[in-house]
Parts: sequence; C-alpha cells; structure tokens
Amino acid sequence: MRILQGEGLVKAFGGRRAVDNVSFHVAQGEILGLIGPNGAGKTTLFNLISGALEADGGVITYKGKKISGMKPYRICRMGLARTFQKAKNFPGMNVYQNVLMGAMYGKPGQSAEAAARDTEEVLAFVGLTGMRGRALQDIPLALQKRVEVARALATKPDVLMLDEVMAGLNPAEVSEAMALIESIRAKGVTIVMIEHVMKAIMSMCDRIDVLHHGQLIAEGTPQEISSSRTVIEVYLGEC
Ligand SMILES: Nc1ncnc2c1ncn2[C@@H]1O[C@H](COP(=O)(O)OP(=O)(O)O)[C@@H](O)[C@H]1O
Ligand SMILES: [Mg+2]
Repeated sequence: MRILQGEGLVKAFGGRRAVDNVSFHVAQGEILGLIGPNGAGKTTLFNLISGALEADGGVITYKGKKISGMKPYRICRMGLARTFQKAKNFPGMNVYQNVLMGAMYGKPGQSAEAAARDTEEVLAFVGLTGMRGRALQDIPLALQKRVEVARALATKPDVLMLDEVMAGLNPAEVSEAMALIESIRAKGVTIVMIEHVMKAIMSMCDRIDVLHHGQLIAEGTPQEISSSRTVIEVYLGEC
C-alpha cells in the first residue's frame, strides 16, 4: 500500500524551480532513499511534505488524504514526522526536555504524565537515558543527531523522514545510526531518508529516488541505481 505520495510537485524560489514537477511514492513499511547532489531539492521536498513550505503546484497524499496545504502540526499529528538537516534542537534545554517537546507536540490533549512516559520510552529506545540531563550543546554531534531522531520519534510517527542524520559522523557512528534506523523500521515505521553516506543508502534502502536540479532523474532498487549511467554521471561519480 502507498502510505505517502506526491504528484507533480513544484516549488520555485525567485523564479528558479528547486522542486520541478516531482512525483514519488512511498510504500508502507519500506525504506526509501532520496539522494542527489547538494542543491538538488531534497530538503525542499521534505519541507513540502511536512508542510514547512507550501508547494506552488502538485498534490501530496498521506494515508489516502490530501495533506498539501495543511499546517505542519496537523501533518505531524497524522503520524508524519521529520528531522531537520540543520538540527532544530532547543539548545537551552537538556536531552530529556528536547525529546519531551516532541512527545507534547505530537499528541495534543494527552496528559503530562503520558508525555513524560513516552519520552522515557523513546530515550531508552535510542540509548540516551544516561544523557537525559545533559545540555544539548555539551554532547557530541552524533548524539545531537540522535536527539533529533528521538524528538521526531516521540511524536509516534508512522512515517519518519530523516534529513542527513549521518552527516559528519565517523564510520563507527554511522554503523550505530544504521542500527538505530533498522530498529525503527522493525517497529513498523516507514522511513524516507536523505543521505550522502552511500554505504548506508545502498545497504538499507528498498528503493532509491534520485533528484538532480529539482527533477526526479531515476528511481529503482539500490542495484539499479548504482549501475545507472545517468546517476553515476550526475552524482555517484563524485562520491
Ligand atoms: N527557503 C529558501 N529560499 C530560497 N532558496 C532556497 C530555499 N530553500 C532552498 N533553496 C534553494 O533551493 C535549491 C534546493 O535546495 P535544497 O532543497 O536545500 O537542496 P538539497 O537538500 O538537495 O541540498 C538550492 O538552490 C537552494 O539554494
Ligand atoms: Mg538538504
């Protein structure tokens, strides 16, 4: 079943199309990779899906409902969560408080106790319980990225969109991030991941979409994408 799809999406900035007539779909339970050179429009596409930006054209459907035009909080409360490439952590707050923000934002009307319980659960799941009292700016980048994922997870998503959560991590940290993403998928969460770390993309994704200059230039299995002449020319050749 297609849990999320976009048809003919367009977003222009000052006359330049950052997303140019993109159609895509995500099947329930899969990991879809979104790759392409810097400036290809990947983050802008996430911004359209999550409602952070309004599309100039096209339609986005989630769980059979049109979500394009909806406010971000409504989309999030329908179970679609995302992380931010430039981490949106709250620097004045500790790890626990950052994740609590997600728990409270995602489910309106729930009690403070339930939000606290959800937060504890997510902290344990991502292995951050021991870091709960630490200030965000005092923990290593890999853990800050993990907090970003934890805050999104605390909204209890059915679809989780990850924007370069492995950027800047060393190989050991990348392996840990991969294990975390696999464990999230094992809970039944559908995942869309933007990533430049090819080892992760190629080994984890069921399918991959490739963006270039705002256009979807290829889609296929990791094997198809890694042997696509077009993709090698515009992207993989430089990796
Ligand atoms: N809010 C914005 N205002 C103006 N231009 C933007 C904005 N967001 C993105 N862009 C431009 O859109 C293009 C695609 O950017 P982006 O989606 O961030 O690419 P990617 O995530 O693939 O690196 C780039 O040329 C970028 O400069
Ligand atoms: Mg980006």
